[in-house]
Amino acid sequence: MDIAILGYGTVGSGTVNVLTRNRELIAEDSGEVLRIKAILDLKDFPGDPYEERIVHQFEDIVNDPTIEVVAETMGGLHPAFEYVSKLLEAGKSVVTSNKDLVAAYGEQLLEIAAAHAVDFFYEASVGGGIPIMRMINECMIQERIYEIMAILNGTTNYILTEMEEEGASFEEALEDAQELGYAEQNPESDVEGMDPARKLAILSTHAFCVDVDWTQIERRGITHITPDDIAIAKAIDHHIKLVARSRMVGSRLFASVEPMLLPEDHKLAQIEDVYNSIMIKGNMLDDITVQGKGAGSLPTGSAVAADLIMAAINKKDHVTSTTYHEYAKVKPESFSSLGQTYMLRTDKSVSMPQEGIISGIQVDHIHAYFTKQLKSQELRDLIQQLEIRGVQVLSCLVMEQEDLSVNR
Ligand code: NDP
Ligand code: HSE
Repeated sequence: MDIAILGYGTVGSGTVNVLTRNRELIAEDSGEVLRIKAILDLKDFPGDPYEERIVHQFEDIVNDPTIEVVAETMGGLHPAFEYVSKLLEAGKSVVTSNKDLVAAYGEQLLEIAAAHAVDFFYEASVGGGIPIMRMINECMIQERIYEIMAILNGTTNYILTEMEEEGASFEEALEDAQELGYAEQNPESDVEGMDPARKLAILSTHAFCVDVDWTQIERRGITHITPDDIAIAKAIDHHIKLVARSRMVGSRLFASVEPMLLPEDHKLAQIEDVYNSIMIKGNMLDDITVQGKGAGSLPTGSAVAADLIMAAINKKDHVTSTTYHEYAKVKPESFSSLGQTYMLRTDKSVSMPQEGIISGIQVDHIHAYFTKQLKSQELRDLIQQLEIRGVQVLSCLVMEQEDLSVNR
């Protein structure tokens, strides 16, 4: 079957690599021979084995009736949305790694795909090489999923690992992540938490069957994390991770993306480098955790290739696995409204007792205090109390706790 790729960058070239290097195995296992007929990109690639297949006009792909399945790996919202819509309307199945596109227009594109009896898959848009969408959609169809806790951004996990283990600066570690092809074109999306918020919204929509707007998810990134925070985390045998969490409680959705202090023995605390991990809780299977490389050319290309193969098999069999549901919109609420415990790093020592604070620690010149479970207003009041006493809070990190005092 003839296929095409839109965008020959990190993910596009990884996809081509996977399809080329594993061509025989794919043909043997799936019965499908995928021929890459065209690759759309803005640039030329002199000397590349696929140099002759590079095209610069989208029309060369959408108007070619022999091309039946297309991978969109360009990124961005426009023209990606227009291209994907036109391809689906032209009766071609489309797969994408572009979470910006899926988080903003996923529902609309699924509706178009279903109306034209073609597939729209986006396995690679969440968790890089981890086959999480198929796991939720197909392998957990019998489960009432009520909670997700995950590391969903490879760049920030790489940065935090480098800062913690190598003593690298934030800037150095980010530069490395960019060189390795992990970061977004605008890395603000990674380090300020927009990227994992988009992924959390995509996952939560599928897991909880509700329509989640990623922009309404409470979000904090890792730009304010300093070596002093990491020193405190080490002193208490914890790791700082950028955690994406969502929990359905009745018809209420709680969701957040923020750096958290996780105890050494927490499953997510062990996840290093570019790896992502996703813990899911369901009412029958209890909990399940998967992990794998969350970014990078070949792992992400592998997930795109899997979608291409599934879409090609469906095309050949004249079936589609894509279904469209109009889910009810829910407004994500903040976990802080439920009460959480915090680590507060301060500029000087706090004379005890202090209402709200349970204990403290000093590491060299660094002072940190641990709170009892506080709701958002109680936390604000405590910070204000400290300020009145001449103590400035330099950082405030949520600590992992099992019981958030809600009924499941
Ligand atoms: P890259 O920037 O490496 O690749 C995108 C390619 O598409 C570039 O060659 C770019 O050309 C080209 N391109 C951009 N716009 C157009 C256009 N209008 N017409 C034709 N070609 C175009 O990005 P990535 O491969 O890293 O990411 C692609 C998508 O996959 C993004 O949505 C990203 O979020 C997602 N993703 C990335 C992962 C990763 O590890 N990198 C992992 C999972 C998902 P030019 O360089 O000239 O702009
Ligand atoms: N920039 C993203 C990350 C790419 O680092 O996780 C994978 O979606």
